Amino acid sequence: MTNLTHIFEEYIVHRKPTSMAVESTAACNLDCPFCRYGQSAELVGQTAHSDIERKVGNVDLALYRDKILPSAKEFGIKQIQLHFQGEPLMNKKLVEMITLGKESGMWMQFFTNGLLMTEKKMDELLDANVDLVRFSIDGNSQDTYKLHRVGGDFDQVIEILTEFASKARDRSSKVKIQWSYIVTSNNEHELESARKRSESLGVEFMAKVLNTQDVSWRPKISSWLKDYKSKPCQDIFTIFNVQWNGDVVPCCYDVEGKVVLGNLVDNTMEEIWRLPRFKEFRKRLANAKAKPEEEPEICKSCPAYR
Ligand SMILES: C[S@@+](CC[C@H](N)C(=O)[O-])C[C@H]1O[C@@H](n2cnc3c(N)ncnc32)[C@H](O)[C@@H]1O
Ligand code: SF4
Repeated sequence: MTNLTHIFEEYIVHRKPTSMAVESTAACNLDCPFCRYGQSAELVGQTAHSDIERKVGNVDLALYRDKILPSAKEFGIKQIQLHFQGEPLMNKKLVEMITLGKESGMWMQFFTNGLLMTEKKMDELLDANVDLVRFSIDGNSQDTYKLHRVGGDFDQVIEILTEFASKARDRSSKVKIQWSYIVTSNNEHELESARKRSESLGVEFMAKVLNTQDVSWRPKISSWLKDYKSKPCQDIFTIFNVQWNGDVVPCCYDVEGKVVLGNLVDNTMEEIWRLPRFKEFRKRLANAKAKPEEEPEICKSCPAYR
């Protein structure tokens, strides 16, 4: 093995992610037209969230507590997000999952469409010391919001966000509450008014571009285009992705779980990370610029890239 090959091998094995996504549930109460859009779909809006062929379910609490969390700790994970596909608040055990994660010393966060957050749930989340909750609200009026969050109600989610922020303030909670705004050609005109509304609620505002190969959905303001990333993709070295049944997949755009690299019911994260097929996948990904023909098939039309 030449020196360079050896360094590359070391890089592939030792550059381990410190973040992890655990899909608390694959079920969802909304049908956002861009969400299901993965590598195989040609256009946004042609595939509904409910068309996912993979079975929909919740992560088993015993699997999470007895296998996933200890394995994550041993691997060196510091931060867990409880969303992947699906809406975390659809899982009734979400708060228990946060509590268990905190007991393991993890930073615990989830992204949510927010609509199912009752006052009781807000209190429970704050009691559990959740570290970050990001609300996905892609518009500043019902007319615009409903184009993205199909089935959602803008006034309702704003009321919920306002109440949650107010409860957190009253308790002097350290929770980070964020408003996430995915910028598209449909809503870029409301971006600044949404930012102002978010500021008035005392909530951090995060704007990010819609990942899509469908140019008609991409924002028209050209400065957003720089947000589409260039290859080689680094995500596999920053986040470890686990679907609700324990399947390990390379990234969050593997919506259907087409590239299953291992399963946490059978193996630890460390064992799966070192499996030849996982190493090979990372190698091909890291080499994608030099050898584009060897880039994994699933990555070739990823919506996050130009
Ligand atoms: C799949 S959702 C699951 C969590 C939750 N249901 C929600 O909507 O926030 C996770 C995050 O991905 C974002 N998302 C979904 N599809 C996207 C896309 N095509 N481009 C960029 N972000 C996307 C959502 O807005 C959300 O912030
Ligand atoms: S609410 Fe989240 S998981 Fe559900 S369809 Fe929308 S983006 Fe997807």
